[in-house]
Amino acid sequence: MAIVTTKEMFQKAYNGGYAVGAFNVNNMEIIQGITEAAGELKAPVILQVSKGARNYANHTYLVKLVEAAAAENPDIPIALHLDHGDSFELCKSCIDGGFTSVMIDASSKPFAENIELTKRVVEYAHDHGAVVEAELGTLAGVEDEVMVESGKEMFTRPEEVEEFVSKTGCDSLAIAIGTSHGAYKFKPGTTPQLRFDVLEECAKRLPGFPIVLHGASSVPQEFVAEINQYGGNMPGAIGIPEEQLAQAAKMAVCKINIDSDIRLAMTASVRKYFAEHPDHFDPRQWLKPARQAVKDMVTHKIVDVLGCNGKA
Ligand code: G3H
Ligand code: 13P
Ligand code: ZN
Repeated sequence: MAIVTTKEMFQKAYNGGYAVGAFNVNNMEIIQGITEAAGELKAPVILQVSKGARNYANHTYLVKLVEAAAAENPDIPIALHLDHGDSFELCKSCIDGGFTSVMIDASSKPFAENIELTKRVVEYAHDHGAVVEAELGTLAGVEDEVMVESGKEMFTRPEEVEEFVSKTGCDSLAIAIGTSHGAYKFKPGTTPQLRFDVLEECAKRLPGFPIVLHGASSVPQEFVAEINQYGGNMPGAIGIPEEQLAQAAKMAVCKINIDSDIRLAMTASVRKYFAEHPDHFDPRQWLKPARQAVKDMVTHKIVDVLGCNGKA
């Protein structure tokens, strides 16, 4: 199957009460780990590229690697998405360069400016066969270069979502309900709790419309423990409980973003590998288990959290 937009995957996910995983990709091993898992489980998947990933690996390399993954996994739909696009020019460049979906994240701008910029991106994208994710509300944590302190995040205001979606024509909407980016989402000792009331209210006002959750890594404690055991120092890393993500996936949430869990899975694997094999220096030796760790983590998410296995 060629690289597709998210339109059909979201429609099926909405009606089927599951979500599609959107995993951030930065190199070949991450792309292989994710798509091998999705391919074996017959799951639709979204591969997303941030501005930072594009700066690191180069647009053309990432597109060609994703094309290779699509050729190797012809039975599953794969979407290629720009994560947190911060300008019309960046979105245009990705659409022109083969992405099927872009996010324009103007959520830090005033409401009217967010509408204006999102609308401009939507017009260009729709004219060129691509779809657009937009965002209302701000998450805590780091989004590319922007850092929002925990406690200073703003939950999405449900009373704004209908006007925003109808005026912009966006195809999906990321909302803020208490998720946040990175590996330190909650203070140790506090109980993580997503605002399902905000999600429900947004969903009620946008019937049939796909909602997106950013900052949805669960920061598995076995990865954190392994990192700390083998020379790392990540005290108090805490994520979103997977039961809450699984609950959101059954609701109007059709896309769940995961990046930090990929980083943790790979880092834990590599740290352990070098601790156990201090004399090894062939990158294939340590990247192989790291790629497998990504595959295992994604397999678990697809089956136990997203529920999109067999939905390709
Ligand atoms: O939300 C941001 C993603 O985790 C991407 O992070 O900008 O470091 O590539 P990055
Ligand atoms: P995490 O940091 O929770 O993995 O969130 C990733 C994300 O939202 C990418 O846009
Ligand atoms: Zn994000």
